[in-house]
Amino acid sequence: METKRVLVVGGTGYLGQHVLLSLSRIKDSAPYDLAFTYHSNSNLLEPLLDAIPHSHAFHVDLATGDGFQSIASKFGQPHVVVNCAALSVPRVCEKDPDAAMSINVPCSLVNWLSSFEERDTLLIHLSTDQVYEGVKSFYKEEDETVPVNVYGKSKVAAEQFISKTWPNYAILRSSIIFGPQTISPVKKSLPIQWIDGVLSKKEQVEFFHDEFRCPVYVKDVVTIILSLINKWIIEGKQMKLLLNVGGPDRVSRVQMAETVAHVRGYNTSLIKQVSASSVYRGVSSPADISMDISKLIQTVSISPTPFRDGVILTLDST
Ligand SMILES: NC(=O)c1ccc[n+]([C@@H]2O[C@H](COP(=O)([O-])OP(=O)(O)OC[C@H]3O[C@@H](n4cnc5c(N)ncnc54)[C@H](OP(=O)(O)O)[C@@H]3O)[C@@H](O)[C@H]2O)c1
Repeated sequence: METKRVLVVGGTGYLGQHVLLSLSRIKDSAPYDLAFTYHSNSNLLEPLLDAIPHSHAFHVDLATGDGFQSIASKFGQPHVVVNCAALSVPRVCEKDPDAAMSINVPCSLVNWLSSFEERDTLLIHLSTDQVYEGVKSFYKEEDETVPVNVYGKSKVAAEQFISKTWPNYAILRSSIIFGPQTISPVKKSLPIQWIDGVLSKKEQVEFFHDEFRCPVYVKDVVTIILSLINKWIIEGKQMKLLLNVGGPDRVSRVQMAETVAHVRGYNTSLIKQVSASSVYRGVSSPADISMDISKLIQTVSISPTPFRDGVILTLDST
C-alpha cells in the first residue's frame, strides 16, 4: 500500500510541532511521509529536522500561496493537510486586519488543493473558541457565531470558506491549548509556564475572575487530530465535521492561576482577583466562551485530560 503523505501547515508553531512529533513516532505498519511548512522562523528548523529527520520542510506564505508549487513537485499531493498556521495572537490581528484575513482564511491552501485532479485530501483546520460571543456558558457547535474581535472574525470567515469550497474537512474550534514546550522552543509565552513564572516571583499579580475558558491539554488535541487522520485513512469516507475542542473543565483565569499555585505550593494570596472589564488589552476579549464538548467525546471517543492533571503534566516537563 502507498505510504500516506501528511502535510502540517504551520509546522514550526506550538501545535504544529507537537502534531509533527507525534506523527513521526507512530509505530505501526503504515507510518506517514511527513512534510511541514514554516514562514518566518527558519531558525526553528534545525532542532525540528534533527528530531524528525525524514520530514521535508517547505517555505510557504499563506498570504500569497508562494511555496505550494514546490510541495506539489517535491512531495506530491498530500492525503491529509493539518492547517495549524495562523496569525494566532488576537492583539496582532486587531492591529493588522488585512494580514489576519489573508493568513487565517486559507484561500491559497484550498486553491492549491483544488489544483489536483483528486479533490479528496482531508483538511483538518484549526479554528478557535473565539468565534463565540462569550455571553453564556457551554457553547454548542450549532450556536450562532458572533466574534467580538478581528481574530475571531477571520476564523469565522475561514470556517465559512472551507465548508463552502472543500468537500473533505474537519474544523476544530479549539480553546486555549496548554502543555509542555516544543522540541524547538517557540518564542511566544505559554499559558501555564507564564502563570508559573509570574507567581514564582512572589509578587501579587492580577487575574480575571470573570473570563471563562475550557483549556485543552495539547496532547489531547494531538490525539484528536491523529484519530481523525486514522479515520480517513482507514475508512476512506469523506467528512464534513465541526467540533468544539476543549478540556472537561470550565475555568476562570483566577481558577487557572489557583490551580498552578496549588500544584507548585505558592501562596494563593498572590492572586489578585480583578474584572476583565477593568483592563483594556488592545483587543476585545469574549467573557465566557466555555464550550460543550459532548460532540467531540462522541465523535472521537476521547476523555480529555482534567485541567489540574494537565497542569501537573506541564509543570513536570519543565
Ligand atoms: N495556542 C492556542 O492556545 C490556540 C487556541 C485556539 C486556537 N488556536 C489555533 O490553533 C492553530 C495553531 O496555534 P499555535 O498556537 O500552534 O500557533 P503559533 O504557535 O502562533 O504558530 C503559527 C504558525 O503559523 C505560521 N505562519 C504565520 N504566518 C504565516 C504565513 N503568512 N504563512 C504561512 N505560515 C504562517 C507560523 O510560521 P513561522 O513561525 O515559521 O512564522 C507558525 O508555524 C492556529 O490556527 C490558532 O489560531 C490556538
